[in-house]
Amino acid sequence: MNKIVIANWKMNPQTKKEAEQLFKAFLSKDQKLNKNKVIICPSLPHLFISQKLKNKKVLLGAQNVSTENEGAYTGEVSPKMLKDMGVNYVIVGHSERRKIGEDDETINKKILNLLKYKMIPILCVGEKKRDHDGFYLSYVREQIKSCLFGVSSSNIKNIIIAYEPIWAISSNKGTEATVSEFTEMKIFIKKTLSDLYNEKTAHNILIIYGGSVNSINAKPFLEEGGADGLLVGRDSLNIKKFFSILETIK
Ligand code: PGA
Repeated sequence: MNKIVIANWKMNPQTKKEAEQLFKAFLSKDQKLNKNKVIICPSLPHLFISQKLKNKKVLLGAQNVSTENEGAYTGEVSPKMLKDMGVNYVIVGHSERRKIGEDDETINKKILNLLKYKMIPILCVGEKKRDHDGFYLSYVREQIKSCLFGVSSSNIKNIIIAYEPIWAISSNKGTEATVSEFTEMKIFIKKTLSDLYNEKTAHNILIIYGGSVNSINAKPFLEEGGADGLLVGRDSLNIKKFFSILETIK
């Protein structure tokens, strides 16, 4: 099955010129993009450049969205504004946003709203640390239950779940997650989804991995770990590294 590779540029790069260069470099190598689905998520101002430059081989995603649709919400960006820019995917619930106060209730509102606009939410879940008693499992289960509250069984297939253990994200300078740590969590997430919906529905939901993905661990996470895709932060900002990830999985 084709895999999904999401580039999360976070709050980088700092100038329009650099963003343009990065995007152009990316497009110039598009012959190597192979059959996988690549979604670039630039910062909001750089979405505009990307929209102008993008071709059919690349999809655009946003890193955040408002819970509201329009009106007096200073600093917010609505789903419709994003959709109008050619954005179909939106990362929600990233740990870096949860850290600044975004809670499950807010994430749930965003998800329900995005689905109304036929956009695909990429829901990030993941624990801060692992413990020997397995409390991290119930932590992730709670995140999934609360964030998906009210999402119908016909809509759940339009959501991608990204398991990103916070301790494995490169900027946290933590340890890399192992493939078996991902596999265990993938099974657990599927079980949670099966309890919330049913087995057949759970089977069709895509679960991707994020956290210090690089050209060495990309293939094992996908092949041995059974990830449906990857969410790449740091190494998506370096075109050489990003392409070597895509190369290893083509
Ligand atoms: P990383 O970031 O690849 O730099 O660990 C992933 C993410 O936070 O989405």
